[in-house]
Amino acid sequence: MYHMEKQMKTTGLRGQVAGSTALSTVGGAGNSLTYCGYSIEDLAQKASFEEVVWLLFYGKLPTQQALLDYQDTLKSQRDIPAPLITCLELLPKTTHPMEVLRSACSLLGNLEPEKSFKNQIQAATRLLAVMPSMLLYWYHFSHHNIRINPVTQDNSTAAHFLNLLHHQSPHPDTVKCLNTSFILYAEHEFNASTFTARVCAATLSDFYSCITGAIGSLRGPLHGAANEEAMALIESFKDANDAEKGILDKLDKKELIMGFGHAIYRESDPRNAIIKACSKKLSMQSNNPNYYLISERIEQVMWREKRLFANADFFHASAYHFLNIPVLLFTPIFVCARLSGWAAHIMEQRKNNRLIRPSAEYIGPPLKDWINLEAR
Ligand SMILES: CC(C)(COP(=O)(O)OP(=O)(O)OC[C@H]1O[C@@H](n2cnc3c(N)ncnc32)[C@H](O)[C@@H]1OP(=O)(O)O)[C@@H](O)C(=O)NCCC(=O)NCCS
Repeated sequence: MYHMEKQMKTTGLRGQVAGSTALSTVGGAGNSLTYCGYSIEDLAQKASFEEVVWLLFYGKLPTQQALLDYQDTLKSQRDIPAPLITCLELLPKTTHPMEVLRSACSLLGNLEPEKSFKNQIQAATRLLAVMPSMLLYWYHFSHHNIRINPVTQDNSTAAHFLNLLHHQSPHPDTVKCLNTSFILYAEHEFNASTFTARVCAATLSDFYSCITGAIGSLRGPLHGAANEEAMALIESFKDANDAEKGILDKLDKKELIMGFGHAIYRESDPRNAIIKACSKKLSMQSNNPNYYLISERIEQVMWREKRLFANADFFHASAYHFLNIPVLLFTPIFVCARLSGWAAHIMEQRKNNRLIRPSAEYIGPPLKDWINLEAR
């Protein structure tokens, strides 16, 4: 009983201020989201992902020349070191690509160690440039037995990603959608994976260790992997009416519906309207908009029945489907984007560091007398 009462109190640290940041605000007035003072709506509509990365790293928008230079730097760092290629080729096809990225990031830390915190922006930039290359090299090798050239001359990370995935120059509309997705996923204050990165950074560990830990946190279905789970849900219905019936049934059984609800936002997730619009546009250009229609109906039912709103992950599922992205790459794309936020938080933590070490409320038994092994 004592244990039960104590455990009921678990709060997951909701609502507690665990530090300060100048990088983003989540869920303030009107459930808004801002990065370094700019609204997510403006950024998604007007910026490139590379501009957002710069904004997060330097706290201000780049000049035209600075942006061109940064794009060139990213372009020049897309190649994968030979020993890492060997390792990627050894990983099984059945491995989840989140595990591939977690291992690849850690291996890169062996091959190209950060050495000094003075190199942190270089380490972050290198990871941003090479992460899609590592992911898609492994994907094509393990799934199609093809060794791709992981270097393209595309200016944007989104175009580079789609080019490597589909072996052709992508349509500008698809690049725009993926660029928007990268921006939406770039940063989100003290979410679980970012907090993981900051806790690691606060021990003064190296950059690659912080990111490797963050990838591990993002992998869970309550965090990044919700977009893959949402797709599995959407795919399980044949049409919108079937979805309505199925969702009511799941709610009756008190099942968790992936892609709905949020730990901070209460009424809506501002990223949802943006990615939903992308998904709708792509669905209208596709031969079969069914997954959009199913998603829309699920959203209506969840709001009507539970007042639960779609979070950023829900319409990402159908948007990625229309971009012809395999489901197993959904959460890894989140890594390629959130890397920017993680990196900015690691740098911010290092700038004004103190070891993160909260206390726990003890709920175990009182002090006991020791019993020798033979007497138990
Ligand atoms: C994100 C999430 C972990 C937030 O959890 P949380 O802060 O504990 O959520 P709340 O406190 O707002 O939950 C309130 C109630 O709604 C329910 N609820 C929340 N999200 C739900 C969902 N997706 N499906 C069904 N019920 C849900 C909770 O079970 C809880 O019910 P209870 O009071 O009967 O226990 C949770 O909404 C969730 O698991 N969503 C699905 C996974 C997901 O999409 N993750 C990505 C987040 S961006």
